[in-house]
Amino acid sequence: MKTVLVSGGAGYIGSHVTVELIQSGYDVVVADNFSNCDRTCFNGVEKILDRKLPLEEIDFCDSKAADRLFATHKIDAVIHFAAFKAVGESVADPLKYYGNNLESFVNVIGAARKHGCSNILFSSSATVYGETDKLPVTEQSERQPATSPYGNTKQICEDILRDCVKAYEGIHGIALRYFNPIGAHPSALIGELPRGVPANLVPYITQTAIGKRECLSIFGNDYPTPDGTCLRDYIDIVDLARAHVAAVTRMVDSKMKADYEIFNVGTGKPVSVMELVTTFEKVNNLKLNYRIAPRRAVDVTAIWADTAVANSELGWKATRTLEETLASAWAWEKRLAGKE
Ligand code: UD1
Repeated sequence: MKTVLVSGGAGYIGSHVTVELIQSGYDVVVADNFSNCDRTCFNGVEKILDRKLPLEEIDFCDSKAADRLFATHKIDAVIHFAAFKAVGESVADPLKYYGNNLESFVNVIGAARKHGCSNILFSSSATVYGETDKLPVTEQSERQPATSPYGNTKQICEDILRDCVKAYEGIHGIALRYFNPIGAHPSALIGELPRGVPANLVPYITQTAIGKRECLSIFGNDYPTPDGTCLRDYIDIVDLARAHVAAVTRMVDSKMKADYEIFNVGTGKPVSVMELVTTFEKVNNLKLNYRIAPRRAVDVTAIWADTAVANSELGWKATRTLEETLASAWAWEKRLAGKE
C-alpha cells in the first residue's frame, strides 16, 4: 500500500482529498499546524472513514520538523496544501505570505528528496492565469503577472517545483490549477470553515442564508458578460479531491509523460455570480438577501477552464452538478449551525 503525505490535510481541500485517497486504497499521513483551521474537518474525516488517522502537528517552515516527519514515515507521494490563502491579507502583509508559502514548500521538497520520496503534487490555482481574453484557458495559456502576493506565491511555487524536477534526478511533480472549489462532502461532516468574514462567494452565501451575515454583496453587475456579473468555473470539492487521487496514481504508477506536468481542475463551464445565487435559492428552496455592490478590486471578468488535458490524461472529469454541489454547501452550513 502506498502512503501519501497530505500537508495542510486538516483544511478544506486537504480533508476532502484525504477521504478520497483512503477510499481509493492509499494510506495517508495528515500534517497540519492548525494555524488556519480547527479539528472540525480532521474529526469529520475520521468519522466518515470510521478509523483513526496518523496526524502530525507540524509547521513545514521548520525544516528539522519536516525532515523528522519524512524520516518517521515512508512517504511515496506528498500533496502540499499547507499555505496561507487570503488574497487581501497577502496584499497587506506580503512577507507573511512569501515567508510561509515559499519556505514551507522548499522544506517539503528538500525533505522529500532527502528521504527518497520522488512524487510531489502542488496545489496551485487558476489565479496564475490572471486576466485573459482567450477563454477557456488551457495549461499552455500564458501566465499573467500576479495581482497579489498570494497569487505570486502560487506562480513561484510552480516554478520552484519545475526547477527542482529539472535539476534533481528522480523527482517528479504535478501542479493542479484549481478553478473555484465549492461545496462539501455529501455526509456534511466536512466542508469549508472560513475564519471571520468569508472572502469567497459560496461561504458568504451560506452564512447569509443561515442568518450569520445580513446581506450578500454581489460585486459588480456591469461587467461585459451576459448578465453583467463575473463568470467563474465552480468545481465541486469532491470532484476536485478525486483529481488529486488520479494525479497521485499517475505519479506513483510512473504514467507521467513528462517529469513536470500541469493540469487544470475545473468543470469547463462558466457560471455567473447571479446564476450561482439563483441556483442556490432554487435548489435549497429559499430566498437570499442580496444587493448589487461596486466591483471588487482585482477581480477578473471571466475565467473558466479548458479541461481536455485533465480529462484525457488523468482520466478524470467533474461529475457533480452545480445543484448537487450547492445543496451540499447548504447542508454543511446547516449542520454547523446545529440545524440538521
Ligand atoms: C478567489 C481568489 C483566488 C483564489 C480563489 C480560491 C481573489 C481576487 N481571488 O477567487 O486567488 O485562488 O478565491 O477559491 O480573491 N463575489 C461576490 N460577493 C462576495 C464574494 C465574491 O459577488 O461576497 C464574486 C466575486 O466578485 C467573483 C465571484 O464571486 O466574481 C467568486 O469570488 P471568490 O469566491 O472570492 O473567488 P475568486 O475571486 O474567483
